[in-house]
Amino acid sequence: RGEITLGDFADRLGIGSSELIKKLFLKGQMLTINSPISFELAEELAVDYDALVEEEEEIELDFGDKFALEITDKPEDLIERAPVITIMGHVDHGKTSLLDAIRTTSVASGEAGGITQKIGAYQIDKAGKKITFVDTPGHEAFTDMRARGAQVTDIAILVVAADDGVMPQTIEALSHAKAANVPIIVAINKIDKPEANPMRVKQELMEHGLVSVEWGGDTEFVEVSAKARMNLDTLLDTILITSEILELKANPKKRAKGIVLESRLDPKVGPIADVLIQEGTLRIGEVIVAGESMGKVRALVNDLGTKVQSATVSQPIEIIGFNDVPSAGDTFYVIQNEQHAKRIVEEMAKERKIAEVSRKSISLETLSQQMD
Ligand code: GTP
Ligand code: MG
Repeated sequence: RGEITLGDFADRLGIGSSELIKKLFLKGQMLTINSPISFELAEELAVDYDALVEEEEEIELDFGDKFALEITDKPEDLIERAPVITIMGHVDHGKTSLLDAIRTTSVASGEAGGITQKIGAYQIDKAGKKITFVDTPGHEAFTDMRARGAQVTDIAILVVAADDGVMPQTIEALSHAKAANVPIIVAINKIDKPEANPMRVKQELMEHGLVSVEWGGDTEFVEVSAKARMNLDTLLDTILITSEILELKANPKKRAKGIVLESRLDPKVGPIADVLIQEGTLRIGEVIVAGESMGKVRALVNDLGTKVQSATVSQPIEIIGFNDVPSAGDTFYVIQNEQHAKRIVEEMAKERKIAEVSRKSISLETLSQQMD
């Protein structure tokens, strides 16, 4: 168990370090901004700020060799955040078209073969409320992306084409959403088609445990058409009502943390990571770590392609500044300085190697047993 400096601790509490220095001085302790604070002292001080200091494994990353520290958010720092909505479903059932219709853009027509091969994330405004959408591929090859999409979401939208009905990836997507334990809204799409049969979709989904509200269940079904732009407002209203019940809040004052949705190497600008911010605010110049990649935020590009100075909770953002391409699915953290970040990355690499070695020795063992 290590230590944290007074300055870092004040930061975490969201107060000025001079306030802490004064408080401690009055208690007869002369400390400076760089003085280490013990776990016990941190616990004692936190009480005055309604904060709770506890050791927590995951947060250890944040502090490197210092002690792990999690401070519960002060109620007044929590503000409403945009819901994250993941669109899932079978291939070609119209997920990207539906998002396009909602955003009134045209991503689907620019895709190779009309097939989505990556996760796309966008934010829209509806009646002054922001909603973040995550589009996932429906092709059977992209199970990982659907699973990742379900893990980051607050609500899953299951898109089912009214002419095609429930198909294998509909069921797969449903199981990801159930595993993630998030509310599910069903969007029955393509109701403009003459052969559309929304009733059949409802019956088929009932067999998988989704019973529509009108049939006495608790799943909202909305019949839409991306092509004819039908009932899009109803779908958005249903999303907003469902997210209000969830009372989604976040603390924008924290150091940012989030998940890497996609990453790639751009020959001109270097590694690019598409991330979804899940905590705090991310700013240009901050030191970041994701898995074994680290770097410094050089540029932030929002979903409209505009460069911005900062990004906040629930916002999808492109980060330029990683030294290597981080892996999709990795969590990224803002770290207080490069020295710490380096140590964390080295630690991650060491742990991975240990894991690899033990896996190797296990397989050698089983191999030699088989040969005996
Ligand atoms: P993947 O991402 O590859 O899984 O596909 P997707 O679910 O995103 O489907 P996409 O939006 O690419 O649409 C597939 C096809 O269905 C396209 O040809 C669309 O034009 C068509 N389509 C989508 N929505 C509608 C709709 O509401 N009505 C009709 N008639 N066609 C639609
Ligand atoms: Mg698509």
